Amino acid sequence: MSKNINAVVYEKHGNPADVLHVKSRPWPTPTSGEAVVKMCAAPINPADLNQIEGKYPVRPELPATPGFEGAGVVVDLGAGVKGLTSGALVILPHNIGTWRDALAVKAEDLVVVPEEIEPVHAAMLKINPMTAWRLLHDYVDLEQEDWLIQNAANSAVGRAVIQIAREPGYRTVNVVRRSELIDELRAEGGNAVIVDGENLRDEVKNATGGAPIRLGLNAVGGESALRLANCLAFGGTLVSFGAMSLQPLKIPTGLLIFKDLRFRGIWINKWYDNATPAQRMDAFQSLFEMAKRGLLKTKVEKAYPLSEAKAAVAHAAQGKRSGKIIFEFGE
Ligand SMILES: NC(=O)c1ccc[n+]([C@@H]2O[C@H](COP(=O)([O-])OP(=O)(O)OC[C@H]3O[C@@H](n4cnc5c(N)ncnc54)[C@H](OP(=O)(O)O)[C@@H]3O)[C@@H](O)[C@H]2O)c1
Repeated sequence: MSKNINAVVYEKHGNPADVLHVKSRPWPTPTSGEAVVKMCAAPINPADLNQIEGKYPVRPELPATPGFEGAGVVVDLGAGVKGLTSGALVILPHNIGTWRDALAVKAEDLVVVPEEIEPVHAAMLKINPMTAWRLLHDYVDLEQEDWLIQNAANSAVGRAVIQIAREPGYRTVNVVRRSELIDELRAEGGNAVIVDGENLRDEVKNATGGAPIRLGLNAVGGESALRLANCLAFGGTLVSFGAMSLQPLKIPTGLLIFKDLRFRGIWINKWYDNATPAQRMDAFQSLFEMAKRGLLKTKVEKAYPLSEAKAAVAHAAQGKRSGKIIFEFGE
C-alpha cells in the first residue's frame, strides 16, 4: 500500500477551479475506534462548490478538504472497533472531506452498504436520495394517487423524488427548464413533465385535471418557486431545499391569507445530526432496499481522477449536464 495519498485541499475560499490544489499527505493511521477507508467514488454536489466558495453555513477550518459524501472500502481497523470488517463497502459521514484517496474515520459513523450495491451507486445515496426520501415522508401525509409538484426535476434529488414517489403511488408534476428532458423524465416515471414558464399553472391544471396539489418541492427559488406555490391547493406546503437560481423566495401576502400556504425548509445535514443511529439506519435500509432493485442510481456525466480536480469542479459548475460529475479513485 502506498505511503502517501492525494487529497484535494483549499487554503482560502473562492472560485473552486482557482483555489483547489491536490496535495500529497501521509497514509492515514487509525486511532482507537477508527477505521481507514480507501475511497472508491465521491460526487461533486452544489453544496460542495458553495462550501469552497465560502457561501455555505458550515465553514470548515482552513486548509480543508472538500466532499460531503462518498463511498469507500475499509482497509484498516484501529483498536476496539466492533461490527466492522476489512473489505466492507461503507458510506462516509459528512464534514470529513471525501475528496482524498483515503481517510481515518470514527468507525461508528460509517454505514455499511449491502454487497449487491456498487460503490458508485452507494457514493451518491446519502445526500440526494435521502433528501428526496425525507421530502416525501416528513412534510405532508400523501395518499396513493395524490399529486406533488417539483422544480429542477432532472436534478439528482428530482429524479430520486420521481422514483421514491412511485413506490406508494404518488403522482409527480415535474417542472424543468429544458424541453429535451420531457421524454426522458416521463420514461423514468414522471407522470407529467412541464417546461417552466408563465403558463405553468394552466399547464399543470391540464395535466392533473385540476386535482389538488398539497406538496411542492422547490430547489430553484425566485420566480420558479413562486410559480410552484401558485400551483398549490389551499393549505398546501412548499418545502424549499435549494436555490439554484440564486434568487430569493418572495412570498406574496395573498398566498398566506387566501391560500394559507405553509413554507418549510430542509437541510439534510441537520436531519443527520438530529437523527438517532436507529433512525439513520432505518432510513438507509429503505434506500438500500430500492438500490438493490437497481433504483436510485444517480446519473453520471463524467468521472475524473482526483489529479484533475480543477477541471472536475469547473465541469460540475456548468448547467445543462446529463448527470453528476464525480471523482473515481484508482487502485
Ligand atoms: N437542503 C438540503 O439538505 C439539500 C440536499 C440535497 C440537495 N440540495 C440542493 O438541491 C439542489 C439540487 O441538487 P442536486 O445535487 O440534485 O442537483 P444536480 O443534480 O447537480 O442538478 C442541478 C439542477 O439545478 C438546475 N438548475 C441549475 N441552475 C438553474 C437555474 N438557474 N434555474 C433553474 N434550474 C437550475 C439544473 O437544471 P439544468 O439541468 O437544466 O441545468 C438541474 O436540474 C441544489 O440546490 C442542492 O444544493 C439541498
